[in-house]
Amino acid sequence: MPADPLIVPVSLGERSYEIVIGTGILAAAAELIEPRLSRRLSGRPTRTAAIVTDANVSQHAEAVALSLQSAGWNVESIAIPPGEKSKSQEVVASIYDRLVAMHADRRTAIIAVGGGVVGDSAGFVAATYNRGLPFVQVPTTLLSDVDSSVGGKVGINHPQAKNLIGAFHQPATVLIDTAALTTLTDRDYRSGLAEVVKYGVILDAAFFEFLEQSVAALNRRDPAVLQQVIATSCRLKAYVVERDEFELTGLRAVLNYGHTFGHAFEALANYGELLHGEAVAIGMVYASRLAERLGKIDASITARQVRLLDALHLPTKLPAGMAFATEEVISRMRLDKKAVAGRMRFILPTRLGHVELFDDVPESDVLAVLSI
Ligand SMILES: NC(=O)c1ccc[n+]([C@@H]2O[C@H](COP(=O)([O-])OP(=O)(O)OC[C@H]3O[C@@H](n4cnc5c(N)ncnc54)[C@H](O)[C@@H]3O)[C@@H](O)[C@H]2O)c1
Ligand SMILES: [Zn+2]
Repeated sequence: MPADPLIVPVSLGERSYEIVIGTGILAAAAELIEPRLSRRLSGRPTRTAAIVTDANVSQHAEAVALSLQSAGWNVESIAIPPGEKSKSQEVVASIYDRLVAMHADRRTAIIAVGGGVVGDSAGFVAATYNRGLPFVQVPTTLLSDVDSSVGGKVGINHPQAKNLIGAFHQPATVLIDTAALTTLTDRDYRSGLAEVVKYGVILDAAFFEFLEQSVAALNRRDPAVLQQVIATSCRLKAYVVERDEFELTGLRAVLNYGHTFGHAFEALANYGELLHGEAVAIGMVYASRLAERLGKIDASITARQVRLLDALHLPTKLPAGMAFATEEVISRMRLDKKAVAGRMRFILPTRLGHVELFDDVPESDVLAVLSI
């Protein structure tokens, strides 16, 4: 194994766990998973796992399977179709069927090897089958490394609404291998970088500066820099999750910076034409401009975000041909559960590295920013 893996602890009482981040660590999956899983199972050993994955990441899933099998594990591989459609009741039911066929019991570990889609549906299965199975996340996209694999939210979509059916189910551990990112498409990789930039803006100005200085390394997917950047992003998300695990205090809402605009753009672009991270990148620029208009920050803070996103080849405005009527965007945002009659809720920066919730933003200011 090259550099030593970094460990990020997530402290949630008896649901605490460690995120292990390294390069080439999947070949050592068994030795990394076993002690952490056994801690979660109060010392009772387990040697049976169902690996849930999709066809695009089979080489990474095989590395995990091989390591476990060499250590004497019984491993069943369950491949689901790649893509958001797999966050469905049908796909979850097909995984339940496979678990029944393999006589899975409460000590069978569910190991998700894939992006956020695999993690969310396999995690939902782990939360519900037999009232809960131990769960291990092996994220393979940058977005799942820094976002969906941290925090314990798992779930699937309802035909009428995204992520409507779900649970909180913390993993026993998360293994992040930066080497898995080498096979990721350019767009998916950059989409994950948008969430990384978000952490800098909302919580950590020094991290934002580090990203500004690391543009070249990030653009060539330098494993050592990625290891640092993923570890800091996980630490920042863990900080928020530890203080608001079940989304009760409102703190977890800071993670939604750029997302109120972003979700509206994503939905209006019919999910797919804009990747989530691309929509969030554009959304952050609009949110920052809104903060400027309301006098919370000066223009230089927006300019720095635009410069960094641009250097990482992320969009900072809607692509030509994707102009939506401002009223359409506003009515989409009202659906985002955050609006109260003529006033809207936004997470906005008040300086670099800090955001606050504003729940009385006049719609006229939002309209004005959308018309720039
Ligand atoms: N649970 C949470 O807290 C949380 C947070 C953010 C997002 N999400 C969810 O995450 C999902 C998006 O996740 P995503 O962006 O990882 O998408 P994804 O899982 O669909 O992966 C994107 C594409 O990349 C492929 N892929 C994955 N890893 C690869 C690799 N290493 N090499 C080559 N191809 C690879 C996948 O097969 C897929 O086609 C959404 O459903 C979203 O709702 C959940
Ligand atoms: Zn997001």
